[in-house]
Amino acid sequence: MASVGANQKRAGERVAFIAGNWKMNLDHLQAIAFVQKLAWSLKDARHDFSDTEVAVFPPFTDLRSVQTLVSADKLELKYGAQDVSRHLSGAYTGEISAEFLKALDTPYVLVGHSERRQYHRETDDHIADKVAAAVKNGIVPVICVGETAEDLELYGPSAVPVSQLHAALALAGDAKEIVVAYEPVWAIGSGQAATPEQAEQVAEQLRYVIAEVLGGEIADATRILYGGSVKSSNIAGFLRQPNVDGALVGGASLDLAEFASIAQFRKHVGT
Ligand code: PGA
Repeated sequence: MASVGANQKRAGERVAFIAGNWKMNLDHLQAIAFVQKLAWSLKDARHDFSDTEVAVFPPFTDLRSVQTLVSADKLELKYGAQDVSRHLSGAYTGEISAEFLKALDTPYVLVGHSERRQYHRETDDHIADKVAAAVKNGIVPVICVGETAEDLELYGPSAVPVSQLHAALALAGDAKEIVVAYEPVWAIGSGQAATPEQAEQVAEQLRYVIAEVLGGEIADATRILYGGSVKSSNIAGFLRQPNVDGALVGGASLDLAEFASIAQFRKHVGT
């Protein structure tokens, strides 16, 4: 069986992944301008997309514009949706089906972001259904897990993220690819990121969960991201950890220069 939680990432084993979660910011016109400038800026920096994948997660109304731009200009940037319905079609006013995302060639979808759990009362059951809907349509779910400050105090660092991931994968037995984002709720938008060591500790436990549910090979191949107050000044420390393969970036993903610099983390001093 493939080794899991090894101390060293094997060279070329996992392509780093920098994902920008725009949340409810930037309309479709702003999205077009942003994605164009981001693509130019990464091109100028000779960004190696085969080493570090870069994706943006705009609001639903932007997706068609971003898709058209990416395909017309043959950009190497990827994109994803911020949410998906647990249902595939029918009388669910306001919902967006995974089938519609597939029709827009959407490679990724965020599932279970803490803001969805907190403000939209998404439960573990909803999240398991959403992961299943994505997988069924060939869309890679970026499964978000993370503990609140209260959880941290009550249960320690990894208990809640581990149980959330188990629940999210309940119906995903035949998934070939997933991405997991560990985002401590206390670190999101707070300016108080976790330490790289804290992120590594939880990421390692999450990799064991993936191995248990989906097998060692998929666990080894799965990118585990850290999210929560990531910026260009702290990204490199996270990526030095053996089980952290990228970042889910909120606020800093709306600042073009800052996000491009995060994507270019390998050029930062000391890396
Ligand atoms: P932040 O958000 O980078 O603004 O902390 C991260 C997220 O919510 O995905």
